[in-house]
Amino acid sequence: MKILVIGQGGREHTLVWKIAQSPLVKKIYCTPGNAGIAQIAEFVPMCENFAELADWAESSNIDLTVVGPENPLAAGIVDVFSERGLTAFGPDKQAAQLEGSKDFAKQLMTENDIPTAAYQTFDNPDEAIDYIKTVNTSVFVKADGLAAGKGVIPGRTIDQATQAVKTILEDREFGDAGDSVVIEEELIGEEASFTVLTDGNYCIPFVSSQDHKMSHDGDTGKNTGGMGAYSPAPVMTPELHDYVMESVVYPTVKGMDKIGCPFKGVLYVGLMITDTGPKVLEFNCRFGDPETQVLLPRLKSDLVPLIMACIDGTLDQHTDIEWHTQAATCVVMASGGYPNPYQTGKTITGLEEAESIDDVNVFHAGTEQDENNIVTAGGRVLGVTALAEDLKTAIEKAYQGVSAIHFDGAHYRKDIGYRALSRI
Ligand code: AMP
Ligand code: GLY
Repeated sequence: MKILVIGQGGREHTLVWKIAQSPLVKKIYCTPGNAGIAQIAEFVPMCENFAELADWAESSNIDLTVVGPENPLAAGIVDVFSERGLTAFGPDKQAAQLEGSKDFAKQLMTENDIPTAAYQTFDNPDEAIDYIKTVNTSVFVKADGLAAGKGVIPGRTIDQATQAVKTILEDREFGDAGDSVVIEEELIGEEASFTVLTDGNYCIPFVSSQDHKMSHDGDTGKNTGGMGAYSPAPVMTPELHDYVMESVVYPTVKGMDKIGCPFKGVLYVGLMITDTGPKVLEFNCRFGDPETQVLLPRLKSDLVPLIMACIDGTLDQHTDIEWHTQAATCVVMASGGYPNPYQTGKTITGLEEAESIDDVNVFHAGTEQDENNIVTAGGRVLGVTALAEDLKTAIEKAYQGVSAIHFDGAHYRKDIGYRALSRI
């Protein structure tokens, strides 16, 4: 098979790395890619839009296109490819609303009794502020649309929540994504990421994982796309796993089908494990980043037949999916300044040394190749990932990899996995 992967982050490097291990695959292409992906896949010539990319895929006899990020999915890339008779993995535009509109997701949850925080949606700032004054609890104020993980603002006091409403609805900090806001009660607990593959009917869960969204140690600083991840997440017990499948995953997939939006692809459920059980914080319509960096190295089975089965509606024939028993940890190395404006163009050294450690993989995110060197080109630069017999050793090994790598201004969290370590 010839496979095209769309995206340029650590998630896509991991996808390309895993897909390359499939005996079914002859050649992998990627766009826009990064310096790590370039070592495995060929770059696609520049295309201006989905139609041009579909032209290229058609003329290059691409058998399967795997879409990494949410933006092209929400903008309908799978619709464009499917209309052309091309096979593409991921939800169509309508189904991608599960991530693309927080209000859509909340309505779906309400209609299907899926546990989540109480909420209201507003497009009028005065009405939103009046509501905030009536609720007697801390809230989270969220831009309805896609905002690269940045459109969620805590409102722990009435003033903070009011300011958040103004930032989103009046100052338009997130543009059109802030046409409306979802205001929901704060949930207290520990977060976990629950990832499933679905063909719109049958669902196969991945092993559990947890990411670290805050930029600095002890979960302080700013919200980011994720500064590290580990798998398994001990907070997700077998009982909770079954509960999430029955009370969240299947009601979501069935609920989407019922409203004429069958969801095929990766369903990522962001959960808060509260004292009264797991509640949904968000849905994503694609693999998590950096969760993918710890999930795919643990997947023993070939990913390609699983993807094809999601598209064909035959996922129920793949109940024999196998996992490595080892644990995995990914530590993200970020550019100086991130998550605020950050530096780029810094030379990265030590990559080979890090990768020479057994079971350590360095997945590239914001990197590019200049004339002589691999240099930084984004906020999150690398995801140093280790597999080991237990989580503690995987964490140690990942940090051993990190200490081999250098670039000016590099920063990373030193406490990835601390919650898991306190449970085992
Ligand atoms: P979201 O993109 O909606 O998942 O929000 C991003 C992050 O904000 C989550 O991973 C949580 O850390 C936090 N968050 C969002 N909503 C809530 C909530 N209702 N209660 C507590 N934390 C929340
Ligand atoms: N790591 C969180 C996400 O991918 O949205």
